[in-house]
Amino acid sequence: MTWDEMYVWLLLTGYRTLLRPVLFSQDPERIHEWTIKTLAALPKPVRAVLPLLLGKPRNPLEVAGINFPGRVGLAAGLDKDATAARVWAPLGFGFAELGTVTAQPQPGNDKPRSFRLVTSSALINRMGFNNPGAHQVAQTLAAYGMVRGSNRCPIGISIGKTKVVPLSDAVADYLVGLRTLAPYADYIAVNVSSPNTAGLRQLQQKAQLAELLAALTTEATLLSPDNPVPIFVKIAPDLSEAEIDEVVTVCEQEHVAGIIATNTTLTRPEIAPIDAAKAAESGGLSGAPLTALALALVRRITSRTQLPVLASGGIMTPADAQAMFDAGAVLLQVYTGFIFNGPAVIAGINRLSKPR
Ligand SMILES: Cc1cc2nc3c(=O)[nH]c(=O)nc-3n(C[C@H](O)[C@H](O)[C@H](O)COP(=O)(O)O)c2cc1C
Repeated sequence: MTWDEMYVWLLLTGYRTLLRPVLFSQDPERIHEWTIKTLAALPKPVRAVLPLLLGKPRNPLEVAGINFPGRVGLAAGLDKDATAARVWAPLGFGFAELGTVTAQPQPGNDKPRSFRLVTSSALINRMGFNNPGAHQVAQTLAAYGMVRGSNRCPIGISIGKTKVVPLSDAVADYLVGLRTLAPYADYIAVNVSSPNTAGLRQLQQKAQLAELLAALTTEATLLSPDNPVPIFVKIAPDLSEAEIDEVVTVCEQEHVAGIIATNTTLTRPEIAPIDAAKAAESGGLSGAPLTALALALVRRITSRTQLPVLASGGIMTPADAQAMFDAGAVLLQVYTGFIFNGPAVIAGINRLSKPR
């Protein structure tokens, strides 16, 4: 065992034996809110010490004109309102995708709406874009002095459709999100793949996607003609191969800067029998059961296009991360792996010697 491996093992064991049992003894959403509040309140000197403990991002890479100090980022949905935006870099992330943020504030679906499938190393959620709205998120980032281009750890902002806005008015709604948040985002992620907003995934269909992306890329250019904010598109793992190919073609035609694959799945693969009751909850499944599906999708996309692919879905260990890099992903995002394995998984991925 090398020193690096030993160090990651110690971090992992510490998290899984000391901290996780306490966190997992609480309701998932309540402890999530508490953790975000606690992280958001960490004073600057503590944030400054964290990288000494956890290690810094490694293997920098430029993608879509953005300098990423590391290859692994925070996936959308963990910091929906951006309050903990200053802590993700000190925790070892090379970038963070905040949100999903909608143009209007909204409460999301009724609780409970987040479930842990502990034996399966998975989560199911049907949050429904609970968030304070684009203006509030813009104010939070402005108060932190986090504006586009100023962040050592690039900030992506995921935008989605406000629930009460009909699908036929989705384009105008996404445009409000883009206009309000572009000054703060190193990239904008267009979320057309959450399973928890009725009809949202229809926006992945060819004509609708083309219309939406054309409007967003045009607006990005109008807002900042010399340096438009890059637009990434986040897709679902439940598309057929033909649909994936269609999405890729539209992304290329509409000059998006990258594809994020994937969001949570509505399918229920590889669930431990003990988790069967929770698996019956409606919502999107993430974590270990998603690994193979996400990997197959990343392979399919990278075999079809030169567009940068950001892999998300079931990256629970550095080995999962390596498989994504080997499949052609340039950057990674982690959500459920961070909940189950803590900062060790980020430190372990940062220490991969050959990310690509
Ligand atoms: C509780 C929860 C909330 C999420 N919210 C969002 C969201 O608002 N926007 C989004 O694009 N993805 C959201 N996701 C999906 C994650 O960003 C990620 O794509 C997915 O969980 C797969 O990665 P993982 O297996 O590492 O969790 C959410 C996931 C979870 C578990």
